[in-house]
Amino acid sequence: MSADVDVSVPSVARMYDYILGGRDNYAVDRAAIEGLMMENPGAQVLAVDNRAFMRRAVRFLVEDAGIRQFIDIGSGLPTQQNVHQIAHAVDPSAHVVYVDNDPIVLAHGRALLADNATTTVIRADAADPAAIFDHPETEKYIDLRSPYAVIMIGLLHWIPDEHDPAGAVAYIRHLMPRGSYLAATNLLADDDARAQRVEQSLTSRVGAGFFRPWEQHRKYFEGLQLVEPGLVYANDWRPDGHPSSDDSYATLLTGAVGRKP
Ligand SMILES: C[S@@+](CC[C@H](N)C(=O)[O-])C[C@H]1O[C@@H](n2cnc3c(N)ncnc32)[C@H](O)[C@@H]1O
Repeated sequence: MSADVDVSVPSVARMYDYILGGRDNYAVDRAAIEGLMMENPGAQVLAVDNRAFMRRAVRFLVEDAGIRQFIDIGSGLPTQQNVHQIAHAVDPSAHVVYVDNDPIVLAHGRALLADNATTTVIRADAADPAAIFDHPETEKYIDLRSPYAVIMIGLLHWIPDEHDPAGAVAYIRHLMPRGSYLAATNLLADDDARAQRVEQSLTSRVGAGFFRPWEQHRKYFEGLQLVEPGLVYANDWRPDGHPSSDDSYATLLTGAVGRKP
């Protein structure tokens, strides 16, 4: 285990790993999830839906949009079907830079990707996008003058207002060359009492998990052309058989993919 990994407080990356059935989590993470589920029975589907959106969006980007370069910010712990695996199923030469601020992601990513010439992982904070785009590994793996996709799936709601998530995304949109894409999901506050309840449970345990209104979600995509069907509940974005009928939390997560014209 990396010396930086703190197992005395829960980590979002490890909690998410636990919900998705992974093994890279500790007692403190499992206790946090169990408390969360007691207060919000069934809310784990938000993680499952989020991950399913990621798979559909990346498949769209690689198969339909022809994207071969990915910067996956807030990538999380490697689990099944990561961005590079989805992309490589279509084109093994696709390049991927994973970015996360949790040291455990860096440690596991390095081990997983040791022999991978097309994919790397860096530790950086999404609230400081210059540190991501000026990072030597990013410059080595991504041709920043050619179109790429920035993936911010299940990320922005962990960044507090005072760290200006919308400003970070605007900075990235400005940098992206024409023909690049942004894919994102976000937790939604839409006068739904459950949003407040889950937010309260999350913020009391991990200090973050901010549900934001439609307006803010739209702002993240300002100036981009939204791919059909636009900004919608994540399960309604090109559902491709993903079941949503009995998913009572489906209206708390939005997703969209936008293209820089
Ligand atoms: C819920 S996971 C999402 C993982 C993956 N993107 C997915 O959708 O399956 C959120 C990830 O964002 C990371 N994260 C949270 N805040 C971050 C920040 N400010 N900068 C970079 N990563 C961050 C967490 O460590 C965690 O790994």
